[in-house]
Amino acid sequence: MCTYKIFNYVVILLSLTNVSYQEIAKMHGPGLLPKEIIMPARYFVVNLTSILATETLHLSDSFAVEIEGKTPNKNYCRIWVNKLYRKDGTFIVRYKNYETCLDLTISLYYKSKHIKGSPFTFQGPIYPDQCNCPTLDFDTWLEQYGCPKSYNTIDSDLKLYNKINMTIMVQKIIDRFHNPESTSFCHYAVKNNEVYRNCYGKHVGFNMFSDNILMFLARKVVLPDMELVVNLGDWPLVRKNTEPLPIFSWCGSEDTLDILMPTYDITESTIENMGRVTLDTLSVQGSIERQWAEREAKAVWRGRDSRRERLDLVDIARANPDLFNVSLTNFFFFRDKEAEYGPKQPHISFFKFFDYKYLINIDGTVAAYRLPYLLAGGGLVLKQESPYFEHFYKLLKPWEHYVPVARDLSDLRQRVLWARAHDDEAHKIAQNARQFANENLLPQHIICYHAVLFSEWSKRLTNNVTVEDNMTHVPQPSFQCDCQHGRVNFHQEL
Ligand SMILES: *[C@@H]1O[C@H](CO)[C@@H](O)[C@H](O)[C@H]1NC(C)=O
Ligand SMILES: *[C@@H]1O[C@H](CO)[C@@H](O)[C@H](O)[C@H]1NC(C)=O
Ligand SMILES: *[C@@H]1O[C@H](CO)[C@@H](O)[C@H](O)[C@H]1NC(C)=O
Ligand SMILES: *[C@@H]1O[C@H](CO)[C@@H](O)[C@H](O)[C@H]1NC(C)=O
Ligand SMILES: *[C@@H]1O[C@H](CO)[C@@H](O)[C@H](O)[C@H]1NC(C)=O
Repeated sequence: MCTYKIFNYVVILLSLTNVSYQEIAKMHGPGLLPKEIIMPARYFVVNLTSILATETLHLSDSFAVEIEGKTPNKNYCRIWVNKLYRKDGTFIVRYKNYETCLDLTISLYYKSKHIKGSPFTFQGPIYPDQCNCPTLDFDTWLEQYGCPKSYNTIDSDLKLYNKINMTIMVQKIIDRFHNPESTSFCHYAVKNNEVYRNCYGKHVGFNMFSDNILMFLARKVVLPDMELVVNLGDWPLVRKNTEPLPIFSWCGSEDTLDILMPTYDITESTIENMGRVTLDTLSVQGSIERQWAEREAKAVWRGRDSRRERLDLVDIARANPDLFNVSLTNFFFFRDKEAEYGPKQPHISFFKFFDYKYLINIDGTVAAYRLPYLLAGGGLVLKQESPYFEHFYKLLKPWEHYVPVARDLSDLRQRVLWARAHDDEAHKIAQNARQFANENLLPQHIICYHAVLFSEWSKRLTNNVTVEDNMTHVPQPSFQCDCQHGRVNFHQEL
């Protein structure tokens, strides 16, 4: 077995015993550094294409994975393994451990025989996500976790903010934006790796999402003391012609300056991977039944009536039933139009979208947060042009990763006809989209983006963080865990 490190991945070259015609398989992914990279669900990719090109139909059954370990008290460790077949000769293997595992072994079998090099063993301790065992400082941890040193989008979002006194900024934010009926936001203070917050507004339930990512990180790394304000609404807040105030938001727009974080949706699908959330950028790659050639050459869409163009889409689809399969699933914003554009249709499983080649992405109230899953699923995305964007949109290129559609949808029909007439090009764009998702939108990327963002942000703050008396402490979930190096006890310093 030959192991070497490329960028943030361990790549392992495998060879199959007793298979003479081809010998090399490849593996990569953070799940092969289980001690260093702690995730709710660890994952890696196994590429068997060079071995089995002619047998892909039966590949899923020929390839098997076993992941086992022990604990200090038992000779087994509770681990759930999930094998996702991408139907292109490559697999995603995910595993979730529910307790700290020692001597983890990953065994890979082809037709019941170990692939050469297998089993792979890792001494551990392999902590589950819930362990509250931060020991490293942020910079060391970022490197160990395989995160990039910087992101252009983060540098650009933060360039307005150098030497920020949050004591002053928070008061300005409250003065300008505290309007309980229309905005909700939380002021967070991280001090000695504990998280505190004050929330403002009527609808603050979404603070569970910002809590979750901060707590996730604080369990793994010693966060620097910092303060930040997180907008809990979808609309960005800080208009371009006003004094720039640092607010972290999930969605950006061309006329605002908010600092972007990955949306709560993709963040939750990262933290709850193999947990409460079933749709994520990994599962969507393995739950699709049809390969490109078997998919219907129609454009599919389902969603609620949160924007006028979504009703227009129904008109376009009705006029072109041979090109579209479109329905509204709920009426809320245009209830008076239900007779005209209804009746509303039941939801269909997101995975069903991929029975079709073309996937329409139209804004809802802001950007439609489903785009990461559409890209990862490997369909051709027809994306409405939009002033709204998520943290990764600036890296997407029209005609390379998706097909652009005019904001008023006037060229949508032509775009579908183009795709039908250029099937190879359409397929290529769909493959590029999946590759983009695999390089930018998997759980490790979402965690790294937050981590680098918070790290960069903390370096710009000048004030000493003080925890206001009226702040709420956000506790870590209670979970029994023996931290190997002993948890740093911050409370004594408080
Ligand atoms: C799998 O490996 C083959 C051969 O090296 C390569 O051409 C192909 O792009 C890989 N597939 C994926 C999905 O990475
Ligand atoms: C539209 O899609 C749904 C869900 O896949 C399917 O049940 C229905 O038959 C399709 N309608 C048409 C006209 O193809
Ligand atoms: C930050 O602002 C507060 C409130 O005006 C002030 O008391 C404090 O000295 C400032 N801190 C720094 C480092 O400028
Ligand atoms: C922050 O606190 C440290 C230690 O208590 C102190 O030395 C330093 O002067 C403080 N800085 C500011 C800007 O108040
Ligand atoms: C918390 O206290 C600060 C000052 O001590 C005050 O400005 C702020 O409005 C309070 N916040 C809440 C949510 O009560």
